[in-house]
Amino acid sequence: MDVVEAIRSRKSIRGFKPDPVPKEVLKEILDIASRTPSAMNTQPWDVTAVTGEVLDNIKKGNIEMLTAGAEANPDLPFKPYEGIYRQRQVDLAIQLFKLMGIAREDKKRRAEWMQRGYRFFDAPAAIILSIDRSVDKLLSHLDIGAIIQTICLAALNYGLGTCIEDQSTFFPEVLREFTPIPESKEILIAIAIGYPDWDFPANKLETKREPLEKFVTWCGFD
Ligand SMILES: Cc1cc2nc3c(=O)[nH]c(=O)nc-3n(C[C@H](O)[C@H](O)[C@H](O)COP(=O)(O)O)c2cc1C
Repeated sequence: MDVVEAIRSRKSIRGFKPDPVPKEVLKEILDIASRTPSAMNTQPWDVTAVTGEVLDNIKKGNIEMLTAGAEANPDLPFKPYEGIYRQRQVDLAIQLFKLMGIAREDKKRRAEWMQRGYRFFDAPAAIILSIDRSVDKLLSHLDIGAIIQTICLAALNYGLGTCIEDQSTFFPEVLREFTPIPESKEILIAIAIGYPDWDFPANKLETKREPLEKFVTWCGFD
């Protein structure tokens, strides 16, 4: 697949077929993604690929925590978005709920949708990205951003869809219970991965982007 076509066609997939993702395919994708650039070639990413019973246990553990009312406790806490950033976040939720037929006041279905995220959108496999706590945070987080996009683009070549998501990592204790990720590694983000169910309404979402005038400053050009 042409690189421009891949970048333009990639989108977040939130509904998957149950078909398993072969380990060989994931190995190829991760091998390709290992070419991602990183600050001083430090390659700070630790990748934990999960499927089957391990992933089922994580999904179950996440839902147990959520329904018990546990506070999200991510390794990397983040602050709420404000202004235009918050507006874009709200716009996304409105679009997703519209496609899913979830009314604003329908608390039950909104809660079910949230649970879906904590269940990796029922994907048959997931990739968890962590970094050693000893490495520089700023640079290594940029490196992780680069590799997650590379993984998502490479996945397209194998007919796979992805959704990068922090939601599924909000209870890192659950991830650590069922994988060997130690406390010395900071869990940053996960990617749900599988074969897209194109009939799933949320997969029809085409998110918008601002035009270049809104975010590019040209200096020294004619
Ligand atoms: C760092 C990061 C975290 C994200 N976390 C979530 C998440 O928790 N749940 C979710 O549904 N989507 C999540 N997404 C997907 C974004 O909502 C999505 O990329 C954005 O709306 C643009 O849509 P697109 O990926 O279809 O182009 C995340 C994406 C990124 C890059």
